[in-house]
Amino acid sequence: MAPSLLALCAAVAGASAIQIPFFSQAPLDVANEPKLLVDSAALQDLISGDRLLARAKKLYEVAKLGEHEYNHPTRVIGSAGHAGTLSYIYESILELGDYYDISNQSFPAVSGQVFEYKLVLGDTVSKSAAPMGLTPATKGKEPVYGDLVFVQNEGCSASDFPDSVAGNIAFIKRGTCPFGTKSEHAGQKGAVAAIVYNYETDPVQGTLGTPSPNHVATFGLSGEEPSPILEQFSKNHSVDAIAYIDAEVSEIQTANIIAQTSAGDPANCVMLGAHSDSVAEGPGINDDGSGTISLLEVATQLTKFAVNNCVRFAWWAGEEEGLLGSDYYVDSLSPAENRRIRLFMDYDMMASPNFAYQIYNATNAANPLGSEQVRDLYIAWYEAAGLNYTFIPFDGRSDYDGFIRAGIPGGGIATGAEGIKSKDEAAMFGGEAGEWYDPCYHQLCDDVGNLNETAWIVNTKLIAHSVATYARSFKGFPERITRVAATASVYEEETKYHGNKLFI
Ligand SMILES: *[C@@H]1O[C@H](CO)[C@@H](O)[C@H](O)[C@H]1NC(C)=O
Ligand SMILES: *[C@@H]1O[C@H](CO)[C@@H](O)[C@H](O)[C@H]1NC(C)=O
Ligand SMILES: *[C@@H]1O[C@H](CO)[C@@H](O)[C@H](O)[C@H]1NC(C)=O
Ligand SMILES: *[C@@H]1O[C@H](CO)[C@@H](O)[C@H](O)[C@H]1NC(C)=O
Ligand SMILES: *[C@@H]1O[C@H](CO)[C@@H](O)[C@H](O)[C@H]1NC(C)=O
Ligand SMILES: [Zn+2]
Repeated sequence: MAPSLLALCAAVAGASAIQIPFFSQAPLDVANEPKLLVDSAALQDLISGDRLLARAKKLYEVAKLGEHEYNHPTRVIGSAGHAGTLSYIYESILELGDYYDISNQSFPAVSGQVFEYKLVLGDTVSKSAAPMGLTPATKGKEPVYGDLVFVQNEGCSASDFPDSVAGNIAFIKRGTCPFGTKSEHAGQKGAVAAIVYNYETDPVQGTLGTPSPNHVATFGLSGEEPSPILEQFSKNHSVDAIAYIDAEVSEIQTANIIAQTSAGDPANCVMLGAHSDSVAEGPGINDDGSGTISLLEVATQLTKFAVNNCVRFAWWAGEEEGLLGSDYYVDSLSPAENRRIRLFMDYDMMASPNFAYQIYNATNAANPLGSEQVRDLYIAWYEAAGLNYTFIPFDGRSDYDGFIRAGIPGGGIATGAEGIKSKDEAAMFGGEAGEWYDPCYHQLCDDVGNLNETAWIVNTKLIAHSVATYARSFKGFPERITRVAATASVYEEETKYHGNKLFI
């Protein structure tokens, strides 16, 4: 049933007018017959689990295009699997005729790979050391040796770094400023490597963010390992270390795809997004194939209706590398274009196998005015459907982040990643307490078998509801206000993430 690999390769090569027989239904009639104004219940009724799953199987075939280079299916940016995903999205929207205006927004993206690493503290190989995302290698991709040098405060200012870090390894406390800033200061002072240690015992799965020529090879350190070292420092004893990272940071071109209804008031857009890319480790069918497909299906079914307000769908690239595509998009908006977006809704991981119905706890107190109304729309829908839900932190882990920072109200739903389902949640949603919501999160097994169809249908209907509601009317929804400086600063104090990795 699945289309042949040959047909997919043709799609990637950019052949035009590609027909995907597996999906074709009766051609959508985009002629001038009058359409009814979109209605939530009618749009929800058109969501079918069979169509979602058929698309998931198709997307898995696309991910297999990544096998040539990665030896397993993947849709990571820069891979043939991601190029195939972009073609698939683009062609799917193109088939809908002139209902949508489609645009590609290409942008440069950085992608980092760590091949090997080791950190030896004194004479012990560290167990908790984890190289930061987008870290450079140690010099010559060889081990470097030096004393650990204690950095004052949190290493957010160059003056926190004593001159003695030159040729040695900076030992820096986590907090206050991004990891990238700490690494940069360490590099500028001549350190050969840097270690950011945690004040909490949870692991520091961090990223340096945008590469800088001053970054040095940087590890996060956590658990029980930092405190004996701090104790040695307090006794004025020195600790030496060997640091080794073999890594590469490369720059590639990738693209966001944006589809906007040609009808509807363009000064009042409801915007929603999912990310088109996966991590390198696997095909990413739940993360975020599920959201990608939910949006494609809602976009497809929406063509049967008229809209009052513009609806703008986005498929972001480079989410897994640190929200690159959505940040790029938001940064590229003129102030006038920014104001046309009334709200942004993020749909990342809609079908986790051990799911919870999670709503981002986006409040107006901490986020642009209107965010809480979006949150409350989801609450009302789950309640009306007789379903349980939980709140999760709105902490910058997905593509809503750039929008919030730019003063655009935001919200979204999810079904859970590497978090652990509690007993209460197992009573609320079924599934296994004590297990991850998605046991295949960021792994090879995030394939078609990693989707819970029930959760996926429920959430795709909710996405349809969110689109239908705002495509009809923004009545009662707060007007956009000019960005208030305080909003952003309150928000930034609370955010620890920029994408799936900590950045502070
Ligand atoms: C946009 O991207 C799609 C998918 O990669 C590609 O098929 C299409 O040709 C691109 N269109 C333009 C105008 O660049
Ligand atoms: C710590 O050791 C350094 C030399 O290694 C010495 O100059 C300094 O006085 C010592 N400080 C204390 C408080 O013992
Ligand atoms: C939601 O966020 C608000 C602050 O913005 C906080 O007071 C409230 O406790 C949060 N609720 C949950 C369930 O996390
Ligand atoms: C909601 O959660 C309660 C437990 O808190 C459970 O008894 C009930 O069955 C759940 N409802 C649904 C629809 O799963
Ligand atoms: C989806 O999850 C529900 C609740 O845990 C479970 O009953 C059902 O069997 C799951 N379905 C699939 C296809 O995994
Ligand atoms: Zn994701």
